[in-house]
Amino acid sequence: MLSYRHSFHAGNHADVVKHIVQSLILNALKQKEKPFVYHDTHAGVGRYDLTHEWSEKTGEYKQGIARIWQQDLPEEITSYLQAIKTLNEGDELRYYPGSPRVARAHLRQQDRMVLTELHPSDHPLLEQEFHRDRQVSIHKKDGFEHLKASLPPKERRGLVLIDPPYELAHEYQDVVKAIAQSYKRWSTGVYAIWYPVVYRHTIDDMLAGLKDLGIRKILQIELGVSPDSNERGMTASGMIVINPPWKLESQMNEILPLLKQAIAPATGHVKVDWVVPE
Ligand SMILES: C[S@@+](CC[C@H](N)C(=O)[O-])C[C@H]1O[C@@H](n2cnc3c(N)ncnc32)[C@H](O)[C@@H]1O
Repeated sequence: MLSYRHSFHAGNHADVVKHIVQSLILNALKQKEKPFVYHDTHAGVGRYDLTHEWSEKTGEYKQGIARIWQQDLPEEITSYLQAIKTLNEGDELRYYPGSPRVARAHLRQQDRMVLTELHPSDHPLLEQEFHRDRQVSIHKKDGFEHLKASLPPKERRGLVLIDPPYELAHEYQDVVKAIAQSYKRWSTGVYAIWYPVVYRHTIDDMLAGLKDLGIRKILQIELGVSPDSNERGMTASGMIVINPPWKLESQMNEILPLLKQAIAPATGHVKVDWVVPE
């Protein structure tokens, strides 16, 4: 279908949570000298211009990154905030880094990243963003197919970010299938699945599907901006992390309340829970 365009949503509260979790995982991988791979199944364009008419139309970033990028926040998220500051001069927030740009800011010389993006307009923009970057390989392929074909990675360490548009109802269960196939090939990788809460039952079903796979160490991290409702669009979003680094739970327990305070103090909620413990 490919009608989803991330430009409408870049820098919103969901991107903030997603990219903070992503950067904390990458920082944990950097604790060892050994190389790692970052694999992004639904990469987007890599950088978003917040003055673009699509961003301005929704203004979502104003309730997200604009609220926190210059705040004094815990040291652990300095590298995420730095990825934003590097794209912007001074105090004007014009560009927001997509997940590939956030990841690129964390790679060392020995690390690499693999990106898939299927949209005919977004794929060339992604190519352009990382033109001649030898640590980045970009594929115009289905994200789940290419993931399956790429595992296990030669480094045997790394993060897979799974961030589909969820335009179609079956995409929630597609994620479960992709995890089943990937985990069989590579059970020690870190997998981070982004999810929106539009209809809570779709997330409950996805979590039940993941539990049924018999995989251990699954952590759920969520920031809600308003109570669950079947009428108001996305009311919360989160990340389901398989094999999270050991500090992620405590880091997010510290950071999420601060995000809630900045973004949705009266109506928000936070959650850091084990779906399946060790
Ligand atoms: C939520 S956006 C990605 C945002 C990005 N991960 C970020 O955080 O900056 C989802 C992307 O998936 C792309 N897409 C949709 N179907 C795809 C597929 N089957 N394989 C790869 N990419 C796909 C869309 O074009 C869109 O750019």
